[in-house]
Amino acid sequence: MPRVLHFTDAHLRCNQPGSASDSLRLSRQMPDMLGRLASRIAKLQPDVVVMTGDFLDVPDDVLDGVPADGRSLEVWRAEIEADFRIYHDWFESLSIPYLGVPGNHDDVEAFRRVFDDPPLVNDIAGMRFFSFWDSLGPDRQPRRTGDQRDLYDAALTADEHATPQIHLQHYMIDPPIHAKGWNYEYKGAAEMKQSMETSGRVRAVLSGHHHPGSLATGAGGLIHSLPPAFCEAPHPFRVYDIGEVGVISVRDFNLQD
Ligand SMILES: [Fe+2]
Repeated sequence: MPRVLHFTDAHLRCNQPGSASDSLRLSRQMPDMLGRLASRIAKLQPDVVVMTGDFLDVPDDVLDGVPADGRSLEVWRAEIEADFRIYHDWFESLSIPYLGVPGNHDDVEAFRRVFDDPPLVNDIAGMRFFSFWDSLGPDRQPRRTGDQRDLYDAALTADEHATPQIHLQHYMIDPPIHAKGWNYEYKGAAEMKQSMETSGRVRAVLSGHHHPGSLATGAGGLIHSLPPAFCEAPHPFRVYDIGEVGVISVRDFNLQD
């Protein structure tokens, strides 16, 4: 059964110019922090490293296709790919399995290219990991629709997936959080939570997006875990030891421990 190391919301900019608009997000320090995290990973020896999105801090105007700084999209895309390549090379250097899902500050197509269109279902250390690439609706509330909803329904009901599962996604299901005028949880989150608990298949839902972080435990011991954002000091991350029938431990770490 797996030990999982989880970090989220790093908001890296290195080849891209500038930094995140929120000065607490230390975008330009992230390459150095990844180096420090690697040495912690070597000591903690997880079976898999998980990153649940906002790898990068791509400006909204660039994601919308109209860069506000007047430089071309082609130049931005090259820089975005180079920034994803930092992660790719860092993950590969760990020499253990890794999984990631894009967030709303990532360029999904660039992510897909750099990580070679990764599979959404992966069996690691006796557990089936599902990666959901969801997106925000026009009201900026997360939604699971289309192919992602089909995958989710299959995970919970199809005979071929009758196995203990961990779900990875950028957005959260529980607890529901309304802040800054936004709903951070999915549209229909209460039904999603209920259907997961009814299935009895899911041991942990690992997500990001809401930077303060959270940890909730539902029926059957199913945890919904969101570590605080890695981009902000003290650069937190979590480690889970997960057994076949449930989560054995959740431990919080940071780079200043
Ligand atoms: Fe974020």
